[in-house]
Amino acid sequence: MRLSVVGAGYVGLVTASCFAEMGNHVVCIEHDPFRVARLSRGEIPIYEPGLESMLKSHLASGQLSFTADMAEGVRGASAIFIAVGTPTGEDGSADLSHVLAVAEQLGQCLTSACLIVDKSTVPVGTAERVEQRINQRLGERGMKFRIRVASNPEFLKEGSAVEDFMRPDRVVLGCSDTASSELLRRLYAPFLRNHERVLQMSVRAAEFTKYAANAFLATKISFMNEMAGLCARLGVDIEDVRRGIGSDRRIGTHFIYAGCGYGGSCFPKDVRALIRTAELQGFEPAILRAVEARNALQKTLLLQDLREHFNGHFQGRVVTLWGLSFKPGTDDLREAPSLVLLDALLAAGARVQACDPVACSGVAKRYADELASGQLRLDESPYAMVEGADALVLVTEWKQFRQPDFARVRRLMRMPVLFDGRNIYDPSEIAEQGFLYRGIGRPQAGHCKASAA
Ligand SMILES: NC(=O)c1ccc[n+]([C@@H]2O[C@H](COP(=O)([O-])OP(=O)(O)OC[C@H]3O[C@@H](n4cnc5c(N)ncnc54)[C@H](O)[C@@H]3O)[C@@H](O)[C@H]2O)c1
Repeated sequence: MRLSVVGAGYVGLVTASCFAEMGNHVVCIEHDPFRVARLSRGEIPIYEPGLESMLKSHLASGQLSFTADMAEGVRGASAIFIAVGTPTGEDGSADLSHVLAVAEQLGQCLTSACLIVDKSTVPVGTAERVEQRINQRLGERGMKFRIRVASNPEFLKEGSAVEDFMRPDRVVLGCSDTASSELLRRLYAPFLRNHERVLQMSVRAAEFTKYAANAFLATKISFMNEMAGLCARLGVDIEDVRRGIGSDRRIGTHFIYAGCGYGGSCFPKDVRALIRTAELQGFEPAILRAVEARNALQKTLLLQDLREHFNGHFQGRVVTLWGLSFKPGTDDLREAPSLVLLDALLAAGARVQACDPVACSGVAKRYADELASGQLRLDESPYAMVEGADALVLVTEWKQFRQPDFARVRRLMRMPVLFDGRNIYDPSEIAEQGFLYRGIGRPQAGHCKASAA
């Protein structure tokens, strides 16, 4: 099938590459000409495991191409997927300006009927708006055909996006007519060969399903973070509680890890957008507000612990951060807890040495002045960054941080103090190595001699 994907970000690139992998001819349309030039040379602007090799091989075979020209990119397409960003708008709602701009452009350039598919996360009613906008423009141009817009929300996870797309848990299709659903079912059939996982529903239900899924996952995390806060006060280890409740199949083991807050390009903005949707309906979203408030507090927790440890004085202190991306497996820094901590530590006068396998360049762009002044250092080596540190903070649980050589870390640090923002270490083992250990919602372990500073 000939397909177009609008937007060459995390979702657009994965969608375009995976559809090309199944033998479709895909044109990816991206309005940033620099991104188009880089992608056309096979340079991938994001880090996503498995994506680069797939993209390069389909570029080489001609199965996948990139353009900034919408009219050229959609010519002859049977389906056009919209995968542009829907960031938070001023009032908390999803900013639909990119989606509606694409609708406008499509209305002005389409010359034949095709199916438009919303893959971006958009509030209920957006497909109707996009359909109206495009058909209005087609009418003004004297075109005789009209288009339909289906909803096919994306559930991939950054860090395992290719795997998720190739083997989806489910494919949600919101269609208003049989022709649209048949086309999408045909397109997804190669991804669902072992068993049927298409969930078909109304367009509005599909749009809502995506928000409900993200809001539910964010709720699980915030709930556990709240329990962790209580555990810390009661002398209980949240990790025991996590295992205790996760073994109940009604609860399950996923997304019940306490930590220093959720970030990323989806949960924060989607919870906010759903809150705004509820407000506009005159409905009080009490749970969603609490989820958001708990997460905002959670992102300040490591700073509070550090402040307490240093008696409020950060001047002359060296703090090491391990992990900067919002989660392992991605270079995405959007709403990452690390940035909240970095901002506060730098403002308080601490020197920060930070390490991440793939996200250092993104952080370097954001903190150019602090890098130039030497207040911030960045490196991919965890050991180089702990040298002379008064505290080590694990922020993102990349695999390379799971079993470091703690004896070496201890020798390199000025003070052996470890704040575990993701509870990945065993407190007693860390204490045995001579560290003072503090996790999230766990009793403190170990000792640390008073600092000379
Ligand atoms: N990132 C994820 O993990 C994820 C997962 C599921 C769903 N989503 C949803 O998918 C959508 C896209 O997310 P993303 O993370 O890929 O965003 P992104 O910001 O990484 O990518 C969006 C891309 O679209 C381009 N773009 C914007 N307007 C355009 C236009 N008019 N024409 C052509 N290109 C245009 C941007 O330049 C950018 O490259 C969002 O609604 C998001 O909520 C994201």
